[in-house]
Amino acid sequence: MRVGIIGGGSIARLFLEHIRRGDLGDVKVVAVAGQSAASRGKALAQEFGCVFVTDLGGLVAERPDVVIEAASHQAVREHAVSLLEKGIAVIVLSGGALCDDGLRSALEQAAIKSGALLYVPSGGIAGLDALKAACIAGVDAVTITVMKPPAAWKNIPFVGEQKVDLDRLTAAHVFYDGPARQGVPLFPQNVNIAAVLSMAGIGFDKTRLKVVADPAIKHNTHEIEIRGKTGNITIRLQNVPSPDNPKTAWLACYSALAALKLVKSPIRYGT
Ligand SMILES: NC(=O)c1ccc[n+]([C@@H]2O[C@H](COP(=O)([O-])OP(=O)(O)OC[C@H]3O[C@@H](n4cnc5c(N)ncnc54)[C@H](O)[C@@H]3O)[C@@H](O)[C@H]2O)c1
Repeated sequence: MRVGIIGGGSIARLFLEHIRRGDLGDVKVVAVAGQSAASRGKALAQEFGCVFVTDLGGLVAERPDVVIEAASHQAVREHAVSLLEKGIAVIVLSGGALCDDGLRSALEQAAIKSGALLYVPSGGIAGLDALKAACIAGVDAVTITVMKPPAAWKNIPFVGEQKVDLDRLTAAHVFYDGPARQGVPLFPQNVNIAAVLSMAGIGFDKTRLKVVADPAIKHNTHEIEIRGKTGNITIRLQNVPSPDNPKTAWLACYSALAALKLVKSPIRYGT
């Protein structure tokens, strides 16, 4: 399988390390795409002996079967539709971008028309298989509480506006409590999981998102509550943050790897 990666950060590095070790079998990274020649992806590509590109044309020229987007909402907006239209499967990690109904619809239409796979993996959460099954019967309420240590909330404009001193926080602070529709765009690097939960479940308007900075926790902790006709589901994840990027959980990085394994597999156990 020929794979392209958009982004040169924590997830991209983990990918490249595992692929170099042969953990994913017959997979070759044909290109790493960054925004400019100054992007981190350039050094990463050099380190792993891959081609570095800065535009869609360069990426497509390397003939990937699958492109992993591990970059940003902007990267999804810029590249995902064109890739799908060209018949290239896309694994989207920055799923929060799909909170924009117009963009999501364009991606879905491109995938349907070309037959290329659009795959938004579970990322840092679990339970989407049960949620999807429960939704067929009927689900009344879904809530996700995203709690991370203060360091994970730095450099987010919406957090900055609230004038909370993250270095001196002594108790849990709720930044947001409301519909995922309004909350997801406020934290573009932190709550992509709320987007995938919304899309797999009852949608952005009905899914409730709570966003919390908590100095008492070490893990990126996510609590999911689902209530519906098939019963109630409670899930609590305590994810180890990536050492390079406290906003990103290790589990999310591995979710991307697991997604790639599934792309060409004729066998599925769970989702
Ligand atoms: N779905 C999930 O559960 C989940 C979990 C963790 C992270 N994520 C998302 O996955 C993405 C990658 O995560 P990460 O931890 O590797 O981030 P990171 O910040 O470590 O790296 C992101 C990289 O992408 C590059 N980039 C940004 N915009 C780009 C663009 N338009 N084109 C090309 N390159 C671009 C940056 O320069 C950087 O090198 C982020 O959007 C993050 O929010 C999703």
